[in-house]
Amino acid sequence: MKDQAERLRLIAKSLQEKIRNQIYNNMKTCRVLAVTSGKGGVGKTNLALGLSLALARAGYRVMILDADMGLANIDVILGLIPKYNLAHVFRGKKKIEDILQPGPAGLQIIPGSSGIEELANLDPLALTKLLEEISAFNQKLDYLFIDTGAGISRQVLAFILAADEVLLVTTPEPTALTDAYGLIKVFNRHQGRGKLRLIINMVTNEQEGREAAEKLSRVVQQFLNLEIEVAGFIPCDTTVQEAVRRHQSYMLAFPRAPASLSTIKIASTIGELAGESPRGIQGFFKQLVAFFQSKPN
Ligand SMILES: Nc1ncnc2c1ncn2[C@@H]1O[C@H](COP(=O)(O)OP(=O)(O)OP(=O)(O)O)[C@@H](O)[C@H]1O
Ligand SMILES: [Mg+2]
Repeated sequence: MKDQAERLRLIAKSLQEKIRNQIYNNMKTCRVLAVTSGKGGVGKTNLALGLSLALARAGYRVMILDADMGLANIDVILGLIPKYNLAHVFRGKKKIEDILQPGPAGLQIIPGSSGIEELANLDPLALTKLLEEISAFNQKLDYLFIDTGAGISRQVLAFILAADEVLLVTTPEPTALTDAYGLIKVFNRHQGRGKLRLIINMVTNEQEGREAAEKLSRVVQQFLNLEIEVAGFIPCDTTVQEAVRRHQSYMLAFPRAPASLSTIKIASTIGELAGESPRGIQGFFKQLVAFFQSKPN
């Protein structure tokens, strides 16, 4: 009798555990991070890829949306030739799974499309279907990185306003810092909700990075009354360009080089932060749609 009671107690306990895990898994929400910059050519694409790979190698499930329609984007760096992109999904020609490109270390890449604003014109049924498809990814992923283009186009603005977190890349150059300030100003004017963090790339030494970050933080504090966090510094390192020539990311081609070590440090900082109430991929796309459906101002 006593044995039976004990068995029942154990079964109940294991069931409880199962349910707890299920709840945890259902609640687990993917963090959406947009990597952006004011000035072009400051290293967004390389860093978005480097950070994604650092997290993927640490065991996280990571996807990267290649939303930069410029020349040297993620597919070029990795030597990929995607046949389909998001536009095919919006037109109902392909499913998201069909357009995903497998990258190194289990990383998955979504080829973007310059016609992302098509989202606003989808009929409600197609949109609901797309959102359902997207929400299935929410539990399959820990991070979605978005490599945006430079500057403040409507498309970039849509991405940085919809993301949970924004990584703003700049170099210590005065022109890059000025453009970074311009982007923060617009982000603030549109009441961006995501946490904004600064990465200073191509620094000669940490001191230079620190000074540049302080300069920008001071102006942002003084004129916008905003605190801006610094995620870290990445040194100027020729292995970044050398890896691109080999159609690889520096993170994998030169894992022990200074740029890679600094990237790992930033990735682990990002990983340690619990994420500020992420709304998941579905929340991100819903906000994108709402933005594109709204009138430009
Ligand atoms: N830490 C670094 N050290 C040395 N070179 C770097 C570093 N980061 C990026 N680069 C180089 O700077 C150039 C621009 O990098 P990348 O394409 O990543 O910038 P981007 O901001 O994405 O540019 P765009 O605005 O055109 O999208 C590339 O040639 C890249 O190899
Ligand atoms: Mg780029």
